[in-house]
Amino acid sequence: MYLNSEVETALLGQRLGEQLFAGSTVILTGDLGAGKTSLSKGIAKGLGVNEMVKSPTYTIVREYHSGRLPFYHMDIYRTANQVQDLELDDYFYGDGVTVVEWGELLGNYLPESFLKITLLQSSAGRNVNFEAHGLRYQPIIDDVEEYFLNE
Ligand SMILES: Nc1ncnc2c1ncn2[C@@H]1O[C@H](COP(=O)(O)OP(=O)(O)OP(=O)(O)O)[C@@H](O)[C@H]1O
Ligand SMILES: [Mg+2]
Repeated sequence: MYLNSEVETALLGQRLGEQLFAGSTVILTGDLGAGKTSLSKGIAKGLGVNEMVKSPTYTIVREYHSGRLPFYHMDIYRTANQVQDLELDDYFYGDGVTVVEWGELLGNYLPESFLKITLLQSSAGRNVNFEAHGLRYQPIIDDVEEYFLNE
């Protein structure tokens, strides 16, 4: 899938956020500045979060509770070596939606099932690639791919 602009990145996030479920995890991977935070903000919007979503770069995890489900937003780029101190499974197997920027760095700490989204710079826009780990994510991928086809 190709996203022409930040607006489309946000739209993809929103469409995802409308469908993600309690205990879902989204791993965002890609270059520096690929659009991971933009996508996260869209997911928050799709969940109905009305607080301001800020990049969690220096806090590891920010929690938002104003949406349909709790939204847990992490960025582990600078903190991957500290994640064992976090009760990550409380997030992954909890009642909310967890989004982890640079989540591939979790290695063995990744949950059993998750949706992995890779964003890569490509000319002025971004290429997006989806990978479902676990059965519940494929229908969501199918939906967003169809949605952007028809846009
Ligand atoms: N589809 C897109 N096309 C062009 N620019 C985009 C697109 N999506 C997001 N951007 C822009 O890319 C820039 C970086 O976005 P963002 O901060 O979300 O990336 P990031 O992956 O979170 O970066 P970091 O690696 O620093 O956490 C922003 O200026 C944003 O507007
Ligand atoms: Mg970011």
